[in-house]
Amino acid sequence: MKRVLKWLGIVLGGLIVVIGIFILVVFLLANSKVNKSYTIEAAVTVPDDQISIERGRHLVETIGLCVECHGDDLAGDLLSDDPVFGTIAPRNLTSGQGGIGATFTDADYVRAIRHGVGKDGKALLIMPSNYYNRLSDVDLGAIIAYLKTIPAVDNELPESSLALAGKIFTLVDGSIIPASVIDHEAPRPADPVPGATEEYGEYLAVVCSACHGKTLSGGPLPGGDPDGGPAPIAPNIPPGGPIGDWTKEEFFATIRTGVTPYGKTLDTENMPWPGFAQLSDDELSAIWLYLTSLEAREFEK
Ligand code: HEC
Ligand code: HEC
Repeated sequence: MKRVLKWLGIVLGGLIVVIGIFILVVFLLANSKVNKSYTIEAAVTVPDDQISIERGRHLVETIGLCVECHGDDLAGDLLSDDPVFGTIAPRNLTSGQGGIGATFTDADYVRAIRHGVGKDGKALLIMPSNYYNRLSDVDLGAIIAYLKTIPAVDNELPESSLALAGKIFTLVDGSIIPASVIDHEAPRPADPVPGATEEYGEYLAVVCSACHGKTLSGGPLPGGDPDGGPAPIAPNIPPGGPIGDWTKEEFFATIRTGVTPYGKTLDTENMPWPGFAQLSDDELSAIWLYLTSLEAREFEK
């Protein structure tokens, strides 16, 4: 009996040591991912004419979704302040107190928006730069041109940082540290020609794939539910999915009013349609043309 207990003790003790080493390794891996420094050569021409600035405003408020996280006045917001996951505070983008506007150079903006890398060389958390990376040079220049004109608003916010669970999640969910999944050396896409064309629709629909999945065939939202519940589901939107039998008019009405042909009101928390509602007829037509050019797929395929 004594011998059995002794062996049991050795096995259990060994198991605890192995689990302890495993947790330590996971923690060290996650920490090195979070603290990694990036050196990025960033350059883009930033215009200062009124048409470009207006184009920048349009992108920031519609497909850029910047206002969704940084607030309608872009003065920042506190998205999460959770002792388990961490603090996520989209920065104040204005030149008011607590804002970055007064100190950011054009290269700092490019690094942040296109590469997901902060002024200090560390990866930015949560901000979906892996999608903004596909914005053309002209569009990124316009966004920066607009940001440089927004009114100053004072708003001091805490620094964003991950707590233990948040750090561990970075090992399985690339959307927490977008800089870690971006090919920073990838060749720049050609500047698209705006218009009601399938090609332009493909360019605009990159933002839809942030939630509806790479092939737009739906799936759980990245990052899950901030309140800890199951992740909300983004539906399949090419023809094989529920919107397959919609007409173009019904698609327009859904995006512009947030109510589907089946009478369902889309939740603005999860589907940011009020921003997309301001897309022009040409832009929405382009997205529709692109969606209907895709082959039918099963959900999440
Ligand atoms: C899903 C939420 C989200 C969206 C959408 C978003 N951001 Fe951010 N952004 C953040 C968070 C969070 C931070 C702070 C991250 C950190 O400090 O680690 C941030 C930081 C920044 C910074 C400061 C970088 C630094 O070095 O401090 C800039 C500039 C910025 N965002 C611009 C934009 C622009 C422009 C857009 C739209 C094209 C945008 N963001 C869309 C969440 C978001
Ligand atoms: C931030 C995540 C997110 C982004 C970005 C996003 N969607 Fe959605 N979308 C959702 C979610 C979640 C739903 C389901 C909402 C609900 O049921 O209340 C949805 C619903 C829809 C629906 C209704 C489908 C149905 O069967 O009822 C359409 C159409 C749609 N999205 C199109 C788009 C298009 C087009 C884009 C890009 C311009 C886009 N979405 C971008 C998350 C997103």
